[in-house]
Amino acid sequence: MSEHDMKTPGPRAARPIYERPTIVRHQLGMMNKFARAQAIEPMTRIDGVAVAELVAAYGSPLFVFSEAEIVRRYRELHDYLALRHPRVRLAWSYKTNYLDAICRIFQREGALAEVVSEFEYDKALRLGFRPDEIHFNGPDKSEEVLLRALPAGTIIHIDNFDELAAIEAIARRLKIRPRVALRLNLSVTGATPWSRFGFNLESGQARDAVRRLLAGGALELCGLHAHIGTFILEVGAYRELAEKIAGFANELRAELGVILEFLDLGGGFASHNTLKAQYLPGEQATPSLARYVEAIAEGLAALQYPPAEAPTLILEAGRALVDDAGSLIATVRANKRLPDGRRGVVLDAGVNLLFTAFWYNHDVVPAQAFHGMPEPTVLYGPLCMNIDVLREHLVFPPLEVGDRLVFRNVGAYNVTQWLQFITYRPAVALIGRGGQHGEIRRREDLDALVRYEAIPAWL
Ligand SMILES: Cc1ncc(COP(=O)(O)O)c(C=O)c1O
Repeated sequence: MSEHDMKTPGPRAARPIYERPTIVRHQLGMMNKFARAQAIEPMTRIDGVAVAELVAAYGSPLFVFSEAEIVRRYRELHDYLALRHPRVRLAWSYKTNYLDAICRIFQREGALAEVVSEFEYDKALRLGFRPDEIHFNGPDKSEEVLLRALPAGTIIHIDNFDELAAIEAIARRLKIRPRVALRLNLSVTGATPWSRFGFNLESGQARDAVRRLLAGGALELCGLHAHIGTFILEVGAYRELAEKIAGFANELRAELGVILEFLDLGGGFASHNTLKAQYLPGEQATPSLARYVEAIAEGLAALQYPPAEAPTLILEAGRALVDDAGSLIATVRANKRLPDGRRGVVLDAGVNLLFTAFWYNHDVVPAQAFHGMPEPTVLYGPLCMNIDVLREHLVFPPLEVGDRLVFRNVGAYNVTQWLQFITYRPAVALIGRGGQHGEIRRREDLDALVRYEAIPAWL
């Protein structure tokens, strides 16, 4: 038994908790051929604010975002791009995180909005993005939303021939000539092709789409767009993407007289997370933003446009800008010993909140000083479901009921893909650049959740 197991749990318990003795092989983090195992440091503060203070103010579990980190990443990417290209815009990918306060930070930094649904479009308008500052992507755009977005000057990125025909019909009906872009898909080394979106470049479909659009005479082609995938660790993929788009833009200019206003290379840069299949941790494996930018610049060197006419380069990086800025605080509910000898820890946050736990080994650390030997541990969530595992295997110090953990780099795709399943979704807090903090989404309550329910009269 370890010292932890013998511990008296508190004044209310009459006797120390008894746990049947288990032989646990302690892992001391000895040197091996990959050097010393990583030491675990407690993280008692997030951006200078005590974890205990945040939990006292907003409860647990709790998502916490750092404004300073978002701004730092945004400016870093923007400034690198601006060094290499005459005209640059970043468009905030709404689906990555569409909480108003987070979007407001990007808006204030000068970002456009990139949306993929009517809901996201309305959310961006409500926040104050002008219609012409919004780029509308995605494979499903209803006639209703197109009827609003096209005359308002929103740039629609056309996904397929049926959508092209629908947009032309609206343009003729409303007697307008909308500026539109075509979404392309193409193959590059280092990224699995996302061929379901847009018009394929290699097969000639993209060229057919341009010819068809020009022959229709109803629309003005102002841009090309390609988003090649997500969490792409291979910067060479961006060199190839930029080169292929530049080549296509050259062709359109030389053969069809099309002068493009922008080239949008989408998102997909990796954050500092670690994919389950990844060999090295994200801290070591993730390329710097500068390396992605450099690769794009090398590819775009193929563009044969006079400098005065050079199209604006748009990027829609999502997770690379917001993932590292988000943390999830969780509280230990219970410890248990599994039949195979590992320690199981039950937390108050699970895959319902940390959807990305399905593909990342999230970096997680205790939020208070700890004692005792690290041992093989599984982190479970609160759901009564076997799949609710946040970390399958990690060597972790002992934890006590009530202890807190901090999951790092969880700012992307979790507060949009989280599930209202079995429990309420928790509060989300933002730490400002001056060290102040505030709630940016309240914890859900029963009234909010039953608001859309009804019991029919016959029951
Ligand atoms: C069209 C488009 N742009 C940008 C993004 C943001 O991608 P990421 O978060 O990988 O940068 C996505 C996400 O899938 C997307 O579909």
